[in-house]
Amino acid sequence: MKAMVQDRYGGPEVLRLAERDVPTPGENEVVVRVVATGVDAGLWHLLAGEPFVIRYALPLKGERVLGLEVAGHVHAVGSAVTDVAVGDAVFGSASMPDGGLAEFARVRRDRLARKPGALTFAQAAALVVSGCAALHAVRAARATGGRRVLVLGAAGGVGHLAVQLARAAGATVTGASSGPKLDVVRAAGADEAIDYTAADPLARGPFDAIIDTGGHRRLRDLRRALAPRGALVLVGAEPEGDRLGGLGRSLAAVLQGSFTRQRLVMLTSSEPTDALDALAVHAEAGPLRPVIDAELPLDRAAEAVARIGRGKGRGKTVVRVQPE
Ligand SMILES: NC(=O)c1ccc[n+]([C@@H]2O[C@H](COP(=O)([O-])OP(=O)(O)OC[C@H]3O[C@@H](n4cnc5c(N)ncnc54)[C@H](OP(=O)(O)O)[C@@H]3O)[C@@H](O)[C@H]2O)c1
Repeated sequence: MKAMVQDRYGGPEVLRLAERDVPTPGENEVVVRVVATGVDAGLWHLLAGEPFVIRYALPLKGERVLGLEVAGHVHAVGSAVTDVAVGDAVFGSASMPDGGLAEFARVRRDRLARKPGALTFAQAAALVVSGCAALHAVRAARATGGRRVLVLGAAGGVGHLAVQLARAAGATVTGASSGPKLDVVRAAGADEAIDYTAADPLARGPFDAIIDTGGHRRLRDLRRALAPRGALVLVGAEPEGDRLGGLGRSLAAVLQGSFTRQRLVMLTSSEPTDALDALAVHAEAGPLRPVIDAELPLDRAAEAVARIGRGKGRGKTVVRVQPE
């Protein structure tokens, strides 16, 4: 099969098109014939080996195929998998080193769900990591009816889906992005869209919840814009020159969380089947639709990765691997 492989750390230029064997499924895994794979910030981190701790947690041994977010058809099932069959349309989170930037990817059964019929394969792939992070963030923020929620980075992969899910839960949502991306924030259905380069979104507080996917704002300032019992959910950020990738701010929030009535949450997201199923229900019900900013073929995967850059995504970028 054709695959985009990584054998050293670096920018998009280190990705190389190669021939690899089609993976075989483990006992509790399936192999998916990939139609589309989403490009998310995690892929960028793994490619670059940044923050540095990633090189220890997930070491690069030889060659690997990146790409967690996959949608396609089941090609082969492991011996213990009885509830999906060859040919089923699915979406899920791939297991490295056999990720989604390839014609076939390996996926654990408990990281896989049936693709909602309402979504294209590109849309389903775009939901896997970013959609689960948005779902977990909105739940942690308790962003339900009547609550005022601010989403920072609201035009990004996670942010624009968090806007949609919080609105679907009945919250009143303010979304902040840079000016040229405000159309994505509006398309996501935000009640109010703010260009953070022109006006400070924190000045619109107090908010009942803030979901931060890229704000680079100081913890102190975020907390000031939060109601006394409000929730702050730190999803992630890409601060320039910070070798810990914003981890220091998240750890400070966890520590301060013990001494305040505000809920300060450092989000750690994953993509279990029940979360994917919940996203599928939202998609079938109507409101959840990822904004696909660009769709590029496998041999232009490096370009797709360069588009999202480091924390500069606009909606979602998807790599189209094979025809449906
Ligand atoms: N905790 C978890 O489990 C988890 C899961 C998924 C993702 N993440 C992390 O969450 C972060 C967002 O991921 P993503 O996939 O949504 O990335 P993304 O698609 O690149 O979106 C990030 C957004 O942040 C905005 N942004 C950048 N600098 C900003 C600033 N100074 N003020 C306000 N907004 C700013 C960007 O828009 P502008 O260019 O317009 O500013 C961009 O739209 C990443 O750090 C990622 O690693 C964490």
